[in-house]
Amino acid sequence: MGKLKDLEKLKKSILKAKNKFPGKNLVFADGNCNSKIMIIGEAPGRTEDKLQLPFVGRAGKILNELLSYIKLDRSKVYITNVVNFRPDENRKPTENEIYFFKKFLIKHIQIINPKFLLLVGSTAAFAILNHSAPLADIRGKWIKSKELNLDAFTIYHPAYLLRQSAQVAVTKKDMLKFKTKVTKS
Ligand code: URA
Repeated sequence: MGKLKDLEKLKKSILKAKNKFPGKNLVFADGNCNSKIMIIGEAPGRTEDKLQLPFVGRAGKILNELLSYIKLDRSKVYITNVVNFRPDENRKPTENEIYFFKKFLIKHIQIINPKFLLLVGSTAAFAILNHSAPLADIRGKWIKSKELNLDAFTIYHPAYLLRQSAQVAVTKKDMLKFKTKVTKS
């Protein structure tokens, strides 16, 4: 089966979980499904739920800026979230929710078959790398996911950068490090 068919099939199985998130829209993905870069965020916010696209609100604007800082456009990467429905009151997804969605996320990654993962924030780092200590310990580092046999790079979440503007410069440096390896291969 082709990628698009597999993605449609995956979308349908995630939609079956919608009853756990009443009144919420499925926010599946955006971008180029043939990209070698797959970006994984946390969960949709209000704007993402409304437009049914990941990272299109305030955090999305920051992500777009980080991408253009390394001369990448979001149409050239593939973007999704760990959790595909907006948690109530913009709370962080619970561990149970992360585990529940992880099987879909792994399938999603397998279908896209990227070369590199860019993990945006602690929920993505937890889901992919099982990292639950402070993000400062692993941000800006390449870490191999043994489960996926895939190199993953973690950055601070844009929503965190909105609160901690001092970390923007750090994250820009991280993006340059990310770019160095990605452009080599
Ligand atoms: N934050 C995320 O992690 N994902 C989105 O899609 C929007 C905000």
